[in-house]
Amino acid sequence: MTELCSIHDIQESNSKGFDSPHGAIFVVKKDDQIFVYKNECPHLGVNLEFQEDVFLDQDGALIECSTHGALFEIESGNCLAGPCQGEHLTAIPFKIENDLIHV
Ligand code: FES
Repeated sequence: MTELCSIHDIQESNSKGFDSPHGAIFVVKKDDQIFVYKNECPHLGVNLEFQEDVFLDQDGALIECSTHGALFEIESGNCLAGPCQGEHLTAIPFKIENDLIHV
């Protein structure tokens, strides 16, 4: 597995992008929980972020695609609204050891 970063490197309700053996991925921290997804919108397969490390909406409540504004639930990756409603982000398996995130 590949080490990404420490869980402390990501602020609450924030996100961070990485290149990994799985390709482009991103990590979100919400309610002190970590979620990892492939950086690929199910609509057109493009990267999601607005700018480097910005994958969430303004409230930090949902993942938002910067291209057409699809909104995804952070916990499940399900698309709640937008052109790919009903589809979902691809979750990346990970483990946390000594506060370090590995994929
Ligand atoms: S490419 Fe993401 S919503 Fe269209």
